[in-house]
Amino acid sequence: MLDFTGKAVLVTGGGEGIGRAACCLFAGGGASVIAIERDAARADALRQSLGDGHVVLHGDVTVAGDIARLADAVDGRGDGLDVLVNNVGDFLGHVKPFERISDEEIDQLYAVNMLQIFRMTRAMIPRLRRRAPGSSIVSVSSIEGFRGIPNNSVYSAFKTGLVGFTKSLALELGPEGIRVNLVAPETTETAQVPMSQYLKPEHADGAREWIPLGRFGTPDDIANGIAFLASPMASWMTGASLNIDGGALAAGGWYRTLEGRWTNVPVIPTHGMIF
Ligand SMILES: NC(=O)c1ccc[n+]([C@@H]2O[C@H](COP(=O)([O-])OP(=O)(O)OC[C@H]3O[C@@H](n4cnc5c(N)ncnc54)[C@H](O)[C@@H]3O)[C@@H](O)[C@H]2O)c1
Repeated sequence: MLDFTGKAVLVTGGGEGIGRAACCLFAGGGASVIAIERDAARADALRQSLGDGHVVLHGDVTVAGDIARLADAVDGRGDGLDVLVNNVGDFLGHVKPFERISDEEIDQLYAVNMLQIFRMTRAMIPRLRRRAPGSSIVSVSSIEGFRGIPNNSVYSAFKTGLVGFTKSLALELGPEGIRVNLVAPETTETAQVPMSQYLKPEHADGAREWIPLGRFGTPDDIANGIAFLASPMASWMTGASLNIDGGALAAGGWYRTLEGRWTNVPVIPTHGMIF
């Protein structure tokens, strides 16, 4: 368990999945958590679960006024902010060939995956500065920021854009002692990506063929990486991307057969290309 005693940590989208796991991990490590969650029931549940000493706002990060409310909440709890976790992001179910995606859908994807991160980060930099050196930003991109995802090209463009934003902002803020990093998760069981519902029971073991470490991610897997990047253990890391993916990106097209061997071809040949 990393020690965040006395630290103020802001997590966006804290009511479910990776954001909720991050809130619980930071709170368990002694931090004072400030979270924002769009879904009222999830916000209530998080508020109850965290208990006293934390703030959970029911609000929407894509609404400028709600970012202002969040800034007030940060200012209301003390002097400055130690960690900003830009967790909110969503493919919004817009899975379709690029030529069929509408301007309105592109705007929606931009609002939730990019614009709000720009606005949130810009609003929090003065507050992070008050805790510098040592304060940091951790954003949640995706392994799809590092490889393609068919029929999701606009979402993927914004997740890739976050990598560039992170690197450039790291240069701007590094001299002040504010670090800027991101995590890039592979498929992780959450409300947004409920793999256990997508897969038939007879296919539940299939992840071992697709992912070298043999399973999909859990929200705690990703929260652990976020907490590491926010902690003094990562004090010489900035502009970095931490892939938390069970080795999926490293596999890059290699799959395990049912016999536990490796192949990069669709049909197992009689010799060669299997290891
Ligand atoms: N789950 C995965 O497989 C996966 C993989 C790669 C990247 N990611 C990224 O991880 C992050 C978290 O994903 P998740 O799967 O935990 O999501 P999730 O949808 O399960 O949880 C996100 C939470 O944020 C809240 N939220 C959504 N939009 C909001 C808004 N505008 N304002 C305030 N709250 C809002 C939701 O209500 C929900 O409670 C996202 O950036 C996502 O793109 C997830």
